[in-house]
Amino acid sequence: MSALKFPLNPAMAGTAAPPVMEARRWLDGVEFPADRPLINVSQAAPVETPPPAMQQAMADAILHQPDAHLYGAVLGRDDLREALAARWARLYQGTVSRENIAITAGCNQAFAATIACLTQKGDEVIIPTPWYFNHQMWCEMQGVNAVPLPATTNLLPDPDQARALITARTKAIVLVSPNNPAGVEYPAELIAQFRDLARENGLALIVDETYRDFHSVSGAAHDLLSDPDWSDTVIALYSFSKSYRLTGHRVGAIIASAEFHHEVEKFLDTVAICPNQLGQIGALWGIENLDDWLAGERQEILSRRAAIVEGFPALEALGWELLGAGAYFAYIRHPYAISSPDLAKKLVQNAGVLLLPGTMFRAASETIGASEVRVAFANIDKHGISTLYERLAAQKF
Ligand SMILES: Cc1ncc(COP(=O)(O)O)c(C=O)c1O
Repeated sequence: MSALKFPLNPAMAGTAAPPVMEARRWLDGVEFPADRPLINVSQAAPVETPPPAMQQAMADAILHQPDAHLYGAVLGRDDLREALAARWARLYQGTVSRENIAITAGCNQAFAATIACLTQKGDEVIIPTPWYFNHQMWCEMQGVNAVPLPATTNLLPDPDQARALITARTKAIVLVSPNNPAGVEYPAELIAQFRDLARENGLALIVDETYRDFHSVSGAAHDLLSDPDWSDTVIALYSFSKSYRLTGHRVGAIIASAEFHHEVEKFLDTVAICPNQLGQIGALWGIENLDDWLAGERQEILSRRAAIVEGFPALEALGWELLGAGAYFAYIRHPYAISSPDLAKKLVQNAGVLLLPGTMFRAASETIGASEVRVAFANIDKHGISTLYERLAAQKF
């Protein structure tokens, strides 16, 4: 291969490679015997396909709904926007209408569009750490500074510490609740404090609710949208990926003011023209038909979370510490002197376990990531969780 004869964008070249892909490469050449198959807790992604009736509805759309194959509205299909708005209005007891909804190609694109509309090069966005790496990566490749706000007690961010980080270049604060990677659910009062902080300082509060359907609180997990003026500050992001097992179809949403969506529309038109039609049709079908099914999925995830917590004393006795557990994730401190990237690679070889090191979720300055790992436990059932714990407990480094 010859060296490039053209320059690369230094902001892009300086951004880390996709962490999940890097971790997958650790599997190359490793054999997993039949009596000790790989336990893959690296990525938060449903492994199964959507329920058959939903697949059937999508197949019918392919065959009988011509618009499933055509460009559609930039901000998404009206019926899906209406349905999502009605759902959020009901759930959060607030005023949310179709104009407040932009459908995107997944929640990652929702974040990218949001940041693109809020910031310019050199601006700053405050993000609690440990953070979702793609949030930091998007900021970095835009020349926007992702300012780490290290979480404190119980892995919760502190609004006073956030206040101290605000500068003239700060444009937004990002919260993810339930949190990836920390697993914690931010209390409603804490989220409201961040909203107040953002509003006082003329910032946007971005709340990524990718895991909201798996929150341990069954109703509204915050009261942001019951504030009649919510859209002057709050931008919520949602994903259909996990809730309806639609990861490959790429459907997410931005819930924000119509005025903000005027800007979002420019981004989405330029990047994707319209969201995936088939995915949107599936998402709408899910909203209209899968409430009971989704409630069952939530119960299953919550029972896996309970298994994570109940089984943990066996690891705790060996020096491991459970820092957070919720949504799809457990965030754990390991007891070994080796760094978490080395530990993670060794666990593939020695234990048949693929998890992600905490360093992938921390700013480079936060050395604490070397002693942390993230386990995406939603991918394994209760039996898998106890096997995972047995394998981890058997390790010595
Ligand atoms: C916090 C968070 N936001 C966004 C995403 C991306 O979701 P989507 O598949 O909708 O792009 C993920 C996926 O892991 C996530 O954890």
